[in-house]
Amino acid sequence: MHLAPRFNHKCLQTMADSNVRWAFNTRKWFPTLEELVKCITYIQLEEKNRIGRFFFREDFESSLIGRLMMRKYVSEVTNLPYNEIFFKRDERGKPILEDPMFQHIKFNVSHQGDYVVLAGSTELEALGVDVMKMEYKGGKELSEFFRIMNRQFTSNEWQTINQGTDEYKIKMFARHWCLKESYVKATGVGLNLNLLRMNFEIKQKTLCRNEIVNDTVLYVDGEKVNWEFHEMLLDDNHCAAVAMAGSNTSKVKFRELEIDELIGNGLPLLHEDIDYCKTYFEKKKKS
Ligand code: COA
Ligand code: MG
Repeated sequence: MHLAPRFNHKCLQTMADSNVRWAFNTRKWFPTLEELVKCITYIQLEEKNRIGRFFFREDFESSLIGRLMMRKYVSEVTNLPYNEIFFKRDERGKPILEDPMFQHIKFNVSHQGDYVVLAGSTELEALGVDVMKMEYKGGKELSEFFRIMNRQFTSNEWQTINQGTDEYKIKMFARHWCLKESYVKATGVGLNLNLLRMNFEIKQKTLCRNEIVNDTVLYVDGEKVNWEFHEMLLDDNHCAAVAMAGSNTSKVKFRELEIDELIGNGLPLLHEDIDYCKTYFEKKKKS
């Protein structure tokens, strides 16, 4: 019989560090068939089917790692084994826990470029995360790209972005994008929200790898909102932003996880499926 104290919040909080920031670099991961077979036993069937349909390897990998991160996080804060945790998606596609008793467990995943990230907390009212590779590979002139993107940012935000070298502009663009996405992902309003109603005011012009910037403020319809944003570089090319509503917004740096930490102690949900995993090795790589 499983004796996990499922509904005791006090207990949940002492079991593991519930306020986490994790990053996984998929560029450094070259899964063997055996490893992949193991990974796939730890995700729900509908997600296995969804991930299997991706054309590119990178999309398959990053979505899979995101699912494993969510399971590890929830397992750590509830003490439930992997195979007793069930996720569903809300009406906007955001993964949430099926069990309504676990509404206080907040987590969000993002994947882009070389990284998959997860932010988790049991003490916040809302939480969202976004990661961005700070590069521009659009082919057009940067100014032309920015012209097309005009309606994503306010004129104040464009003023902050459009300073200095192209490299600086791309970094600032990515930072603003991450901030907006992290907020949108936390509130769940998705594409319905008019992005021009949000105006981010960045005070610190550069981000570092080992320091969290937390003095960026957000105005919605001209009013400063009571949210906190934590920004950090994961490496020289990737920035991440975490949007938080609630009182416990302590600074937590991203920690890079290894694959063994994601699959090490898990009890499987699904049977091993070698044929399914072989299809991964037939998928094309983006780069
Ligand atoms: N809210 C929060 N998280 C969501 C979500 C939602 N509505 N839908 C999915 N997610 C989670 C999932 O874990 C998903 O992983 P999966 O695709 O493997 O299931 C992950 O977030 C994807 O996040 P990310 O990698 O950051 O993707 P994205 O940057 O494309 O954002 C949405 C995903 C759904 C939030 C996005 O499509 C969207 O609606 N964006 C906001 C609108 C916009 O134009 N923003 C521009 C900002 S300037
Ligand atoms: Mg994103």
